[in-house]
Amino acid sequence: MPKIPNSRIRTLRTWMPGISSSELVGVDEHMNQIKLIDLASNDYLDLARHPLLINAAKQTLETDGVGSGGSRFITGSRNIHQELETKLAEWLNRDIVLLYPSGFQANLAAVLALSDRHTPVICDRLIHHSLIIGVKASGAKLTRFRHNNLTELETLLRKSRKSNPEKKPLVITESLFSMEGTTAPIKGITKLCIKYDAKLLIDEAHAFGIMGSKGRGESFGLKEPISIISGTFGKAFGSGGAFLATDKIRGKNLIQNCGAFRYTTALAPPLCASALAALNLMEMNPHWGSDLQDKSISLRDSLAQIGWQRPLGTGPIISIILGSDELAMNYQKRLEDQGLLTVAIRPPTVPEGKSRLRLVIKRNTPAEALERLIQVFKNK
Ligand SMILES: Cc1ncc(COP(=O)(O)O)c(C=O)c1O
Repeated sequence: MPKIPNSRIRTLRTWMPGISSSELVGVDEHMNQIKLIDLASNDYLDLARHPLLINAAKQTLETDGVGSGGSRFITGSRNIHQELETKLAEWLNRDIVLLYPSGFQANLAAVLALSDRHTPVICDRLIHHSLIIGVKASGAKLTRFRHNNLTELETLLRKSRKSNPEKKPLVITESLFSMEGTTAPIKGITKLCIKYDAKLLIDEAHAFGIMGSKGRGESFGLKEPISIISGTFGKAFGSGGAFLATDKIRGKNLIQNCGAFRYTTALAPPLCASALAALNLMEMNPHWGSDLQDKSISLRDSLAQIGWQRPLGTGPIISIILGSDELAMNYQKRLEDQGLLTVAIRPPTVPEGKSRLRLVIKRNTPAEALERLIQVFKNK
């Protein structure tokens, strides 16, 4: 096992849901119970304990059981899988949606479906680990462009087409970046992919439910050259499981040839039911995403007003780059002493010298908690 410096050792902490969807209950280093406001989880819309999601899961638990008992091609397919896939495809205006047990797995499947060892793969430098593992598994040659840098992406695409005119490159990006809080210039990336005839894979894990028109992601409304979009139910959807959305031809190919779809137990039916309930809520409340963005932008403004560099982006992930691991841990502790739970993110999750606090604003985060947070940041 590689040696990990003390400042990078992670400890597993256990949390219980508190009285409201904003509160988590745990213990401090002296084993005293503490109640903290959750400014860390990805349950952006506070749906994980929403009564409609719980009831949907309970009902399906009664009718379909806990697990599906098999892969989709053996005995695992239920009506609820079909219903969720159809509803998601309609919501996103894509031909086919396929469910996967996790976003990690869906990303592996997407990269493997779009590349082989001859494919030039060009990724944003900060894409999620699962996508990188997918590229490694495909044996493809990976090059990376600086985060959100269209000029560098164009240079790499031009070079790739010149040196390997026979092989379509694959470009991979996230839409809302999980550790930066930044949004990718999806339209610009799309234009470049059209210009250089490249395929495009977009991971919208953090964006669905929040970003884009009515929370349908940054790629909503864009067709070619977007090849596959991946999403997860583990974040704004409040449960677990994931999906890929794509066109007819690629969808059929995934069904027939994708090992990560065929050789895995189908998503647990109660999770499908809660994802469907979350989707219904998102459709009934199309303003939720933009309201949350407004709330997050206003916290960015407050941080800038008290002398901090304005965190990039407009979504609910607010990344405050502090530099050293120690400083990031120190701010985590200071906020925790004020009853606020945030998590210091350190290398290797983020680049060296870029340790940070990743703050998450949720739909029901109380205004009073954000005022408390600003007080801590006022005392640099
Ligand atoms: C950008 C991104 N993609 C994919 C995943 C994986 O999703 P899941 O948690 O469903 O495996 C995550 C979760 O950490 C993520 O942040």
